[in-house]
Amino acid sequence: MTEYKLRTHNVRKTYGSVVALKAASIEMQEGEFLTLLGPSGSGKTTLLMAIAGLNNPDSGDIWIDGKLANFLPPFKRDLGMVFQNYALFPHMNIFDNIAFPLRMRKMPMALIRKEVARVLEIVELDHVAKRFPRELSGGQQQRIALARCFVYKPSIILMDEPLGALDKKLRETLQREIKQLHENLGITVLYVTHDQEEAMVMSDRICVMNDGSIDQIGTPNELYFQPSTMFSADFLGESNLFDAQVLEVGKDSVLMRGPAGMNVLGELKEPVKIGEQVKFMIRPETVDTDNDATRDNAVEGILKEVIVFGQITKYFIELSDGTEMVSTQLTCRGSSTIEIGQRIILNWAKTSTVILTNDAGS
Ligand SMILES: Nc1ncnc2c1ncn2[C@@H]1O[C@H](COP(=O)(O)OP(=O)(O)OP(=O)(O)O)[C@@H](O)[C@H]1O
Ligand SMILES: [Mg+2]
Repeated sequence: MTEYKLRTHNVRKTYGSVVALKAASIEMQEGEFLTLLGPSGSGKTTLLMAIAGLNNPDSGDIWIDGKLANFLPPFKRDLGMVFQNYALFPHMNIFDNIAFPLRMRKMPMALIRKEVARVLEIVELDHVAKRFPRELSGGQQQRIALARCFVYKPSIILMDEPLGALDKKLRETLQREIKQLHENLGITVLYVTHDQEEAMVMSDRICVMNDGSIDQIGTPNELYFQPSTMFSADFLGESNLFDAQVLEVGKDSVLMRGPAGMNVLGELKEPVKIGEQVKFMIRPETVDTDNDATRDNAVEGILKEVIVFGQITKYFIELSDGTEMVSTQLTCRGSSTIEIGQRIILNWAKTSTVILTNDAGS
């Protein structure tokens, strides 16, 4: 068996009658950046706490570096932790805050000075060593929290919404910094966020969580373009999601009957049967509004609304049965040639139709 850096198998945690985590199994390679992504209450923090040894799972196993860690106390798990609003010690200056885990490990003072200087340089805050936490901005404090974590070189770092409290601009800067630090230092990172863009930007793989269960694990690309469940399709990015019935199954494509009686052609990825009820998804940016009726898929509708979101423009189109479809295009300069109330033929390639068979009933 490959030795994973971190592995959980069927970890379950209940609080009284609340099942916070049903049976979570994840595997992480050394140096990987894996993100738990899911809505509030889906069990992300519960899984992180179980790995850290801060809650007692009802059942399941946790291995760290190939060793069963179920009964190891938190401080013996060699994990670093950075949480949202991570409280630095307010009465200690920045140097002492960062030196703290090294002092705990009885490192000689000369070496402590060297190591603290090294990590302060990494987070580009070497000039604040003598200040107290209250003399730093929120973003700087968060960087110090990262430095305090990096300084003792844990083999795995757990981060629970470390950027949640920061404004968008700072969040984006720190996202890049964390990513760079991860790449430069080769640390294994298990990250938690409910922000899908953040997950897409930072992760090698994303683990989508829903209601205490793992919904799907994959690379950002796989999850975005080939979600296997309704939940993942809907949670990541925007999507046109519809019910359909399978009409014909070819060698590599499937013909379905969708809303407004439209015939929809999709690629065959998973086996489906004629007559089966399925759902399919089309990303709005793969739907064109240029009236090309010759493509794999073409359906007529009426333009109801146009919203310009800076770089992109969203077109809302109503099909003959009232179903709404969204098309997203890069915003063009000058006025758009299509107007509200106009008929247009939406069209997309069969490779853009993602058939969801796993939870068609939900
Ligand atoms: N100590 C506790 N006692 C009772 N229920 C709890 C406790 N901790 C968590 N829960 C419940 O367990 C479920 C999962 O909680 P968890 O904190 O893991 O969610 P989360 O995915 O981290 O959510 P968020 O994005 O809001 O942080 C929730 O329904 C929550 O109310
Ligand atoms: Mg949480």
